[in-house]
Amino acid sequence: MCGIVGYTGPNPALSKVIEGLRRLEYRGYDSAGVALATTLSQPLFVAKKAGKLINLENELASDHASAKSGIGHTRWATHGGPTDENAHPHISDSGKLAVIHNGIIENYVELRAYLEKCGYKFNSETDTESVVHLLSEEYKTTKDLSAAMRLVCQKLRGSFTLLAIHSDDPETIVGARRNSPLVVGLGEEENFLASDVSAFIAHTKRALELGQDQVVTVTPNEVNVTDLFGNGVTPKAFEITWDANSAERGGFAHFMLKEIFEQPKAISDTLAGRFNDEGKVQIPELKNLNLGIDRILILACGTAFHAGLIGKYALEEWSKIPVDVELASEFRYRKPVLSKNTLVITISQSGETMDTLMALRYAKELGAQTLSVCNTIGSTIPRESDAVFYTHAGPEIAVASTKALLTQIVGIHLVGLFIAQEKSSLSTAQINSLAAELSALPNKVEEILETVEPLREMTRGFKEATSVLFLGRHVGFPAALEGALKLKELAYMHAEGFAGGELKHGPIALIEQGTPVIAVLPPESSEIAEKMRSNIQEIKARGARVIAIADSSIDIDVPHLIRIPKTIELLQPILSIVPMQVFAYEMAVARGNDVDQPRNLAKSVTVE
Ligand code: M6R
Repeated sequence: MCGIVGYTGPNPALSKVIEGLRRLEYRGYDSAGVALATTLSQPLFVAKKAGKLINLENELASDHASAKSGIGHTRWATHGGPTDENAHPHISDSGKLAVIHNGIIENYVELRAYLEKCGYKFNSETDTESVVHLLSEEYKTTKDLSAAMRLVCQKLRGSFTLLAIHSDDPETIVGARRNSPLVVGLGEEENFLASDVSAFIAHTKRALELGQDQVVTVTPNEVNVTDLFGNGVTPKAFEITWDANSAERGGFAHFMLKEIFEQPKAISDTLAGRFNDEGKVQIPELKNLNLGIDRILILACGTAFHAGLIGKYALEEWSKIPVDVELASEFRYRKPVLSKNTLVITISQSGETMDTLMALRYAKELGAQTLSVCNTIGSTIPRESDAVFYTHAGPEIAVASTKALLTQIVGIHLVGLFIAQEKSSLSTAQINSLAAELSALPNKVEEILETVEPLREMTRGFKEATSVLFLGRHVGFPAALEGALKLKELAYMHAEGFAGGELKHGPIALIEQGTPVIAVLPPESSEIAEKMRSNIQEIKARGARVIAIADSSIDIDVPHLIRIPKTIELLQPILSIVPMQVFAYEMAVARGNDVDQPRNLAKSVTVE
């Protein structure tokens, strides 16, 4: 979950690398560093600094215009704290070789012991430093950085994306990957390497995906990929469809706010082309799946897990197939029973979340069919799945997931409708009516966003609260879980989501005079509307300050009422979550927190 970038070409490498790091900083921001090949066979220029990228930028006195190749890293600390010493790049004793790394080298302790015996000195507490010394050792005999990298990778256990440069061959960057992302950006007489395409979309739309255990050697005019034994490999090429401007803030104070406001378009893009003129659902990407399934299991983490919890209600009701939802990180460590009649759906914005990836592999080992609902084209999880449904939400830069979530829910709903259509578990009329409801969502989200100012002002009034509780039932319950997660990660406040029916089984003890409670109410037609109203009475009677989110069918007396447009109950979270996103955003701003880069977090969790 670090960001990695490399550049080789005729332009000054430092500015390209820093620009790439700026776009990748969402992946980790504990420290940042660069290494540049400035002079043939002389020590590399290296600068690294704890803290955000700006600290490094402030250190860089010169633009080192002579350097035509360079690598840069933005870190989310795993082994060793966020200090200057532990920041990447790590350098060989000669200073001529530099390595950056994303992932975890599991056998670094034994490698370090071996290398120390060989006389190498370590300057950091990281697992990565073993790699640079090992590479240096292999380079002594091979005198070829790519060959040395292949030998090193054969000795590494764990997950890694590695980039290395050596001043003996200053125009060459060598990369390698296992269980961690690496893409190549193909420019005109220049090439890029990066953790994801956002690092270079301003310069090229042509890219290559690297597979597992592959080593890539990049110069300004050539890209050569091999496996770990030097056999040539043809990497998969793809065109980047994301617009370069979509990775900019575009006048918004934060990426998160911009992404909240992009939700109507993101949902439209997820829905685009999914209903034909007769109202039939079209998902040709699922044609390879055998839909004679008797169980669906959704695996995901964090907000994507909430998308699964919400999607389950519609998926099960429409397809008439039992649906379970499990945290990917928990699934891996038990002995589940799966078969070829189980469809495992993984949900992931990044497509790189290690827990989800490992759960996917485990599910495949157990014989299940796999479908990934993902936003990032060409990432590992969709690549390793039998089928993929891309959500097309566009790049999500803020660490807090917003538009990715709404489009994941819509994606699961579309998959549910498609299965129902294939199995005839819904009539054509029912599918048409649901298609109309789904298609109306972008305008309804837009409507919420047009009237969001009073909510922002109200939120600021809760700035001093120490704890906020979230309440919902049915699909409103996972929506409440999401509301609480957003507030935790952004406002650093205690926040918890509860199912209304569970209140009396314990959580109601948390309510005291003035406790803010955000309650999500279903439409009046729901069988739980009355029960939710009773739950609100129970907490009001105990002093809760209730903020209710409800459509106009609901009549309720609460101090704060946020109206959302009407839709059917199953789809309501796509609307009710929006005010909770805004609440968390505004609270973070009011409390002076870093909205786009909340403390201790990173966008893409590529370590276990
Ligand atoms: O990239 P993924 O969707 O797999 O990420 C899963 C979670 O790490 C992610 O949703 C996380 O919980 C968000 N920061 C929440 O806003």
